[in-house]
Amino acid sequence: MYLTPEEEKIINGGRGATYQKAMEILTALGDIYGADRLIPIRSAQIAGVSYKTIGEAGLEWISDLKGKVAVPSILNPAGMDMECWQEMGIDRAFAQKQGEIIRAYESLGVRTECTCTPYHISDNLAGFGDHLAWSESSAVSYANSVIGARTNREGGPSALSAALIGKTANYGFHLDDNRVPTVLIKVEGKLRDSDYGALGYIAGEMVGDRVPYFKLESTPSKDELKYLGAAMAASGAVALYHVEGVTPESGKYKNWVPDESITIEEKQMKDVYSSGEPDLIAFGCPHSSVPELEKLAQLLDGKTVKRETWICTSRFVRDKNPELVRRIEKSGAKVFCDTCMVVSPASERFSCMMVNSGKAHKYVPNLCGVKSIMGSTEACIEAALRE
Ligand code: F3S
Repeated sequence: MYLTPEEEKIINGGRGATYQKAMEILTALGDIYGADRLIPIRSAQIAGVSYKTIGEAGLEWISDLKGKVAVPSILNPAGMDMECWQEMGIDRAFAQKQGEIIRAYESLGVRTECTCTPYHISDNLAGFGDHLAWSESSAVSYANSVIGARTNREGGPSALSAALIGKTANYGFHLDDNRVPTVLIKVEGKLRDSDYGALGYIAGEMVGDRVPYFKLESTPSKDELKYLGAAMAASGAVALYHVEGVTPESGKYKNWVPDESITIEEKQMKDVYSSGEPDLIAFGCPHSSVPELEKLAQLLDGKTVKRETWICTSRFVRDKNPELVRRIEKSGAKVFCDTCMVVSPASERFSCMMVNSGKAHKYVPNLCGVKSIMGSTEACIEAALRE
């Protein structure tokens, strides 16, 4: 891979050990994947934040780094709400370690809002055609598919390396050739709300890491696309998809002739749903947007939840919408930020979680050891209000 004289200097240690290591990681990836050069990025989104997932070894690695990020960089969800961790049932020892991780990132100049929906916080982090180094799989899918930006699914260390250098290796979804759809999915029936998560749950298993092109009978909102992409990235490894007439690059492929076509029937999506008696109802995977908080507030107005109910969102969205949060919390539901029901150890004390997200439905059993049932947003609220 070609390196500029300045990049050569960095890899030879001219800016110190941290930047040298970062450059070594980027060039190693570039060599493995056949990149020709490094390209500038607009922003980085860095996974490897929850103490539950990175543990002591991860904390030590981040703490040893010395330097400052070169581009706007933001963190993925942590293992707890950084303010209301006691309300989540997190113990003090975990909170102490989680705080050390956040402070270590902060000293590198990384923004410490911990969210998988950085696109709810600022339009400055990603625009159409921008190259990015984002980590969290649903954010990667959203950036590539809904925004039309370009990012591979980075690991925590490679995203942090890209943030420090301000560049990433030019391969994968940064290149036009890899953004062409490879499988057509026709979907029967009109979908709404969590149906898109159910669709993603099924479609991801079918297509693995290919690039699907959807023909839908209904027009999804941005939040519905968010649920579709998140679920496909969890049940499969889809990092980019197109929806005919909806996503920004779909028009390029109007005359594309698929080698393979799959049809998904409405009944297959309905089969993802189930009922049961959850002891935790959790919303916000990916983190809830303002319209989602509005919907939840409307459904909860004047009512009292009878079961533990969490809504996960970004600190930005929570702090900008105090009235919505007040209406939701008046019902007894809790709005948490900086974290989620999957990456926080707090959900492990429950036995059955009900979710409206195909991604959470996929991950909760394996990562939290908790049974999962999936329903629409309305069905989840009904369960929360049931004695
Ligand atoms: Fe976000 Fe946690 Fe879901 S990081 S996409 S809310 S698993």
